[in-house]
Amino acid sequence: MAAVDSLRTLVLIKPDGVARSKVGQIISRFEDKGLKVVAMKLMRLDRPRAERHYAVHKGKPFYDSLLNYITSSPLVAMVVEGNNSIEIVRKLVGATNGAKAEPGTIRGDYSTGIDFNLIHASDSEESANYEIPIFFEEKEILSYERADKDWL
Ligand code: CMP
Repeated sequence: MAAVDSLRTLVLIKPDGVARSKVGQIISRFEDKGLKVVAMKLMRLDRPRAERHYAVHKGKPFYDSLLNYITSSPLVAMVVEGNNSIEIVRKLVGATNGAKAEPGTIRGDYSTGIDFNLIHASDSEESANYEIPIFFEEKEILSYERADKDWL
């Protein structure tokens, strides 16, 4: 059987996802697909870290409201690992704007717009390598095997 690879991606269940009690349902989607959560924390993001995380959006019209939103109340940060994790997680998450995201995707099922879109996921390996250390030290990312790993 093919080996399960260990490509990692950063996922944030944003303040609206936590406040709307969607954490369990969102994590289930990744677990059901065959991916593995290898690090996770509930945290209130501070402004400096939010600025680092969203540095690419600095200067855009939505930048200030984005920072206010992401720092407004607790979020859940996770590292998700597995075969093609970056591409698969982005597909499960859906288009940025919940109004345009396909039904069946997380944003398509739970979000009606772009301002509160519940979730963030790294869009490339380069982004994941930049974003993960903003939230986790290497020692906080754990190693374990899924019991069904040979079937994934
Ligand atoms: P996210 O995937 O976290 O990446 C940047 C975030 O900015 C995006 O999700 C939205 O929450 C937010 N945002 C608000 N307006 C826009 C916009 N016009 N284009 C892209 N992202 C936006």
